[in-house]
Amino acid sequence: MTKQQLLDQIKADIIRNNVCPNLAEQATQLVFGDGAPDADIVFIGEAPGRQEDEQGLPFVGASGKFLSEMLASIHLKREQVYITNIVKYRPPQNRDPLPEEKKEFLPYLIKQLEIIKPKLVVTLGRHSGMQFLPDLHISKDHGQPKKISMKYEVKSMKNQGAGSSILHTSNSILTAVILPLYHPAAALYNGSQRQVLMDDFSLIPQILEKLRK
Ligand code: URA
Repeated sequence: MTKQQLLDQIKADIIRNNVCPNLAEQATQLVFGDGAPDADIVFIGEAPGRQEDEQGLPFVGASGKFLSEMLASIHLKREQVYITNIVKYRPPQNRDPLPEEKKEFLPYLIKQLEIIKPKLVVTLGRHSGMQFLPDLHISKDHGQPKKISMKYEVKSMKNQGAGSSILHTSNSILTAVILPLYHPAAALYNGSQRQVLMDDFSLIPQILEKLRK
């Protein structure tokens, strides 16, 4: 199976497993992710907003426009990276995603990363960064890449023969390099944060170059 087909399966699993039904009910559609399935960089935001909910694509509103501009500043197009969110349905009135919503979606996000196998995971905003770096202090840690090994639970159905199967839980480890950045929406209207985010963005090519060696 291709990486795209594997990603499509994860998307179908979210719908089949009825993840966050309260959010799903109020949203127009699932906003799964967009970009190259074999990208070197994955960007992870928090949750879709109104325009993302309408179009079914992440970061297509004002903060998406800013993200595309920053990508262009390091000579990258959206199609060359992969963009997704922790929570994949729009929370009502764009409220912050709840801890249990982030927890429910985390296994699917981890599966996306395991399929794509990016060299660098860029988290956008505190919510996204803290999924991987629980002690994150964004004002001091932004722009500094960190290698992590994160233990997580894998749930799968095991066939026991004679048509019966049981739910099997095992532990697995995700290793990744995380670059925590400010969220473009926060930086968009705050001049000093905007400059910090653009400066951090300019470090991405060097960080990636080092990781390629
Ligand atoms: N903000 C996010 O965190 N994600 C989006 O997709 C859009 C805005």
